[in-house]
Amino acid sequence: MLSNRGETYAEAGLANAYLGHLKTPFDKENKEGVVSFSNAENIASGLDRTSLTYHEGPFGSRRLREAMAELITSYFYPASPITSDNILFTSGVTSLNAVCALCLTDPKDGILLGQPIYGSFNGDFSVPSSCQLIYASFQGDDPFGPSAMIRYEEAVLKARDENGVSVRALLICNPHNPLGRCYPRETLVALLQFCQKYQIHLISDEVYALSVYEEDNSTDGFVSVLSIEPANIGVNPALIHVLYGMSKDFAAAGLRLGCLISQNQRFLQAALSTSIAGFFLWIDLSKCLDPTLIADQGGWAAESDLSNRLLQIGVKMASGYAYHNEVPGWFRIIFSVEMETLKEGLSRIVKFYLSSGGSS
Ligand SMILES: Cc1ncc(COP(=O)(O)O)c(C=O)c1O
Repeated sequence: MLSNRGETYAEAGLANAYLGHLKTPFDKENKEGVVSFSNAENIASGLDRTSLTYHEGPFGSRRLREAMAELITSYFYPASPITSDNILFTSGVTSLNAVCALCLTDPKDGILLGQPIYGSFNGDFSVPSSCQLIYASFQGDDPFGPSAMIRYEEAVLKARDENGVSVRALLICNPHNPLGRCYPRETLVALLQFCQKYQIHLISDEVYALSVYEEDNSTDGFVSVLSIEPANIGVNPALIHVLYGMSKDFAAAGLRLGCLISQNQRFLQAALSTSIAGFFLWIDLSKCLDPTLIADQGGWAAESDLSNRLLQIGVKMASGYAYHNEVPGWFRIIFSVEMETLKEGLSRIVKFYLSSGGSS
């Protein structure tokens, strides 16, 4: 379903530490909770820490994702419920384009799109991933009518038979940039069935969804691809992905917020591993490694055990293994946290260090 490269991202699970049950962060009033030295974030005191830190993951706080799920539910009329678990944020739709290309194509695979279309897709998709953009020419046919499928099909077959290119996704822009039109429901159904036939993903950039004016009875207005129930038309929901963001409808292009909405958890998992972000010290806790574990299972297993023991005393830090360190037992400590949190965390580490073999 994903490309080989996408599967590698999904396996890497770089955001796994943020998924599942989150431990309560340290509270300076009652001195309870986990002191996290694990993320390179600069805490600005006085502001809501969950919204402005990595606490709930580098893919948007739960609150933000829930708010977006509500917006999508109210305005896109999704056929199946959309929750915060179906949404992840990056810095604008532009970054999402790269994420889609990286996860859905391998180098030289193709992404199909009609002519004309938003010109920056070329750079956004092909530069980071080395995929190829395959343009379908409509030769006078209406690109928004079901007959456009014939042109898309010709382009897929030509790419495959004449150039050996495997098309992995169809990219549409709805409402369309630059044509300024919305896709009618029946065309979206035909596009979905076309994607199902060739087992390719449909990426629908709906960044202008709410910038629709002068609706009249002759058109449906904006119809999101999410509002079509794929099961009713024999289409796999895992092939459908929507891109949305703040740049157009919220006139906030400088905010750099874009989101991916998908029912495909494997794709979301892969996409999480493509995102990244100095306030650190690299510290040596190798004296606290369990020598029996080192002898039985090796140094890296002992480092993982040490990491768990630190978590038990309420300190979370990234360990050396994650940074390809040469020897086990090193940790990255972030010092750009509030002073009380820093003091509490350091005192927990020092006590732990002295009681587990370290010398002062
Ligand atoms: C169709 C389309 N998608 C994406 C973008 C860029 O979106 P963002 O600012 O979220 O990167 C634009 C900007 O013009 C656009 O026209």
